Amino acid sequence: MITIDGLSASGKGTVANRVSRELEWNLLDSGLLYRVVAYLASEHNLEYWQEEAIAKLVEQRIRIEYSKTGIQASSLKESRELRDSIVYVLSDSLQHKTVQWNGKDVTSIVRGNEISRGAALVAASRRIRSVLVPKQREQRVEPGLVADGRDMGTVIFPDAQLKIFLEASLETRTKRRMAQLGAANTDESFHRVLQSLKDRDERDSLRDVAPAVPAHDAIQLDSSRLSVQETVDFVMRKARNRGIID
Ligand code: DC
Repeated sequence: MITIDGLSASGKGTVANRVSRELEWNLLDSGLLYRVVAYLASEHNLEYWQEEAIAKLVEQRIRIEYSKTGIQASSLKESRELRDSIVYVLSDSLQHKTVQWNGKDVTSIVRGNEISRGAALVAASRRIRSVLVPKQREQRVEPGLVADGRDMGTVIFPDAQLKIFLEASLETRTKRRMAQLGAANTDESFHRVLQSLKDRDERDSLRDVAPAVPAHDAIQLDSSRLSVQETVDFVMRKARNRGIID
């Protein structure tokens, strides 16, 4: 079990994906789950403070499925009627995650900026976090799991053999997020993206419940000057040193 936590745009998603592929382990992208919850809530016209109703949706309507060859919700065994009322988070052997709902691929909406705000709001709810705990722990299957998020090492998998807390300067993270969004390379968009990251950092790291802070036994790694491959190599080296892999 390897956890990779960190703030928005620290690069943890990319690194976790690469590590899980090199190891051929399962990958849990926990941020995607909070995004799915925010999406589901808005599709049901629920406000983010309606925690009880949202928690019920989470228990009944989110399913995470994995298939080496990749799957479509439409090919799953459930009846059409049931399928249409459930959000599926599907992944293939390359650990590409897609989100399907109502017969539609809604991945880009769920990953988009609109949903980011809602995701940070639902993520601040103790009640909603608690119903997501079993769904995350169920992802821990043989031969292993790489999990990325904010509280993977502190709350969800406190017994992980290797915990990384990935850091990068605000400036580096802003540039990474701009590239990810395909944002115009102007001062104005730089400041807009920087401000939105700053707001999210505050919300994610200062909240009472499961704040994004390193576990006491996590290795803190600043990736500002490292390439993705160098960061992946660092994680693999640590995993080898600890005897987690050969
Ligand atoms: O990593 P991301 O941007 O997809 O995460 C979306 C939101 O979910 C973000 O505001 C932080 C929150 N989150 C969380 O609270 N705990 C996690 N384990 C993962 C994400």
